[in-house]
Amino acid sequence: MKKIAVLTRDCGGVNAAIRAVVRTAVARGLAVEGVMRGYEGLMRGDFVPLDRRSVSNIIGLGGTILKTARAEEFCTEEGQKAALAHLRARAIDGLIVIGGNGSLTGARELAGRHGFPVVGVPATIDNDVPGVESAIGADTAVNVALDAVDKIRDTATSLERIFVVEVMGRKCGWIAMQVALAGGCEEVLLPEKDVPFESVLEEIKDGRRRGKASWIIVVAEGRGSAADIASAVTAATGLETRIAVLGHVQRGGRPTAVDRILAARLGNAAVEALAAGRTGGLVHLVCGRVEFLPFGAAGEAKRTDIESDYRLLKVLS
Ligand code: F6P
Repeated sequence: MKKIAVLTRDCGGVNAAIRAVVRTAVARGLAVEGVMRGYEGLMRGDFVPLDRRSVSNIIGLGGTILKTARAEEFCTEEGQKAALAHLRARAIDGLIVIGGNGSLTGARELAGRHGFPVVGVPATIDNDVPGVESAIGADTAVNVALDAVDKIRDTATSLERIFVVEVMGRKCGWIAMQVALAGGCEEVLLPEKDVPFESVLEEIKDGRRRGKASWIIVVAEGRGSAADIASAVTAATGLETRIAVLGHVQRGGRPTAVDRILAARLGNAAVEALAAGRTGGLVHLVCGRVEFLPFGAAGEAKRTDIESDYRLLKVLS
């Protein structure tokens, strides 16, 4: 193996992972190319050489220095063949894909259908990669959202108001649940769990009768909009509500120490796996140790214990 390439999505810690990939590869005498704009750039042959200096001072930067894009065309046979042709023309012996379920599905296609050596590194704020406890970027996103919730708590308590805070997660309520638990929020609404809205309203009315004055309801975007939920609460209880939609701030910002260290370990492990010929899977941490998980081995959905976390939230709130 002489030359590898690295392709990314964006979230906190991805630049730290690129740095770890490049510096591990250089230390092993491998050349490295970065793929610009994710699979879009892979299909167009848009590569940049990366050396030790090209990744200086990026460990604390949000986003990805390689830029990224959604690339539907990569789902097609033609798209994948175009990508493979560019990889082969540039004499690239292995590819590291840093991203979430979409990116890792592309990696699985290249490895499984076309036999190209690929290693994945899980990086997504949703933390929903099957079989993976912690993806790069998830801790940063939760901390960004928590900072906002803590600030909202200050004004919610002072003005005795109900706030509905919408966080990211179209299919997955992981950020919402973590933020609700860490922020001591009263309610959380998730795509994976059907909490009857009537019972949420009853709890608010009940609380009000006991003198409770402020609430924070966290909602994952996939479960509904903060605006709709807030108007429904006002309509049913007559109480004033305010909303905050946190949006893409959660995918940016300086990565936390947890994400930088995870990125260092997994970026390094991905190069080691490629060099050792262990491909067609992703690297992740299990009890602090790097493990290799073949693509598809953990099934299609991540198993999480939403019910016990929800019960904990309700006992403590
Ligand atoms: O998958 C990560 C994620 O940030 C989700 O939480 C969110 O729903 C989605 O991507 C947003 O995608 P886009 O940036 O394309 O709007």
